Amino acid sequence: MTMFYVCKLDDLEIGDSIKLEQYKPPIAVIRGESGQVYAIDDTCTHAEASFCDGFVEGDTVECPLHMSVFCLKTGAPDNPPAIKAVATHIVNIKDGDVFIEVQR
Ligand code: FES
Repeated sequence: MTMFYVCKLDDLEIGDSIKLEQYKPPIAVIRGESGQVYAIDDTCTHAEASFCDGFVEGDTVECPLHMSVFCLKTGAPDNPPAIKAVATHIVNIKDGDVFIEVQR
């Protein structure tokens, strides 16, 4: 699989997200409060809200529409109404640059 460049790590602050619209469905690259960078499908599995409009807490993101909280590492929701996990993708940091490998 090929790694795709996203941004400089320094340009992605804690709690920030970048929506990659060139992928269908779009991918959200999100930096959790631990400093770890994650990539997940941006579209909530419940009613299609964008996680890039959500709220980062720890290494989770809360959906802005109905407040299900998703683990950024596994993509699994912690609470209803969402019950289905969102797809995750591989993130690689190399020489201060963020790359993703899309898993689909
Ligand atoms: S759209 Fe995300 S929890 Fe409903």
